[in-house]
Amino acid sequence: MMDRKIAVVGAGNVGATAAQRLAEKVLGDVVLIDVIEGVPQGKALDLAEAAPIEKHDAAVVGTNGYEAAAGADIVIITAGIPRKPGMSRDDLLATNARIMKSVVTEVARQAPEAILIVVSNPLDAMCHVAYEASGFPRSRVIGMAGVLDAARFRSFIAAELRVSVENVHATVLGGHGDTMVPLPRYTTVAGIPLPELLTPERIATLVERTRNGGAEIVSLLKTGSAFYAPASAAVEMAEAILRDRQKILPCAVHLQGEYGIDGLFVGVPVKLGRGGVEEIIRLNLTDGELADLKKSAAAVGELVAAVKRINYPESRIS
Ligand code: NAI
Ligand code: 2OP
Repeated sequence: MMDRKIAVVGAGNVGATAAQRLAEKVLGDVVLIDVIEGVPQGKALDLAEAAPIEKHDAAVVGTNGYEAAAGADIVIITAGIPRKPGMSRDDLLATNARIMKSVVTEVARQAPEAILIVVSNPLDAMCHVAYEASGFPRSRVIGMAGVLDAARFRSFIAAELRVSVENVHATVLGGHGDTMVPLPRYTTVAGIPLPELLTPERIATLVERTRNGGAEIVSLLKTGSAFYAPASAAVEMAEAILRDRQKILPCAVHLQGEYGIDGLFVGVPVKLGRGGVEEIIRLNLTDGELADLKKSAAAVGELVAAVKRINYPESRIS
């Protein structure tokens, strides 16, 4: 038994990969939860059987209930369904919002002090549902998107310049979608600002590839979406919190006036530590960057409005 517990809800591609990384990094005991009978149990057992070879003593258990998540320090939520043929975006939104609401209601009951890391899509709207359903303070409801989007941007820049990925730091703000805002001005290679190293045209190409990063993987996989890098991103956030690293990472947080945005989850740089979001970092954006961020926030606002129409019909009347 370790002194930390991380629950992962949704034992699909992202959830199971995250569980593997959490256990192998020995960040705590891992509880894997899913609605499908046998799948979380089977994957957890398989991971537990790898432990002697991977040389760790983190426990990994799988279950269809929430009791084992009692007292969890962190809950990573990856539960949801992918869009199926014939399903509208609003149908998907409604289904995943209902799943998120039911998952978070259970989680909040079993682990009222937990920090939630939301992964399910559409990310920024699902964060909103998790925030409302949990009643948790905003410091404990955090969306994963910016770490993934920035990692994609970093990997493309490193390949272009033939440098180590470790030399590349990138900032991506905004919602997790077409309107995300990669910021070349705040992207550096060994401390050198990106605009000093690449032409505006090359940067624009890499920015565009970053914006389409999720779709690029879907078009290759055909039957699913990315999961290795998304799992890495969620686990980096969990690690920063569990080890109280005070690490600055781009995350979706409930903005309450910062950047002139109020009441929406939007990706901005935050400091992660034991309390979850310990600080929201304010960048001095140019008018153009700020306009792009507001446009992205407006797109998130439209999704949240759609969730409210579908999921909480009474709010339309009042
Ligand atoms: P997946 O389909 O492999 O796994 C989802 C799992 O959720 C399934 O095992 C399913 O049985 C489970 N599930 C459904 N309803 C549930 C419920 N009520 N309670 C518990 N579990 C439930 O999907 P994958 O690839 O793991 O992706 C998971 C989610 O994460 C998707 O919504 C995906 O779009 C999103 N995603 C978000 C990213 C981001 O950057 N924020 C990146 C990658 C994926
Ligand atoms: C991604 O960006 C599907 O949101 C997911 O890969």
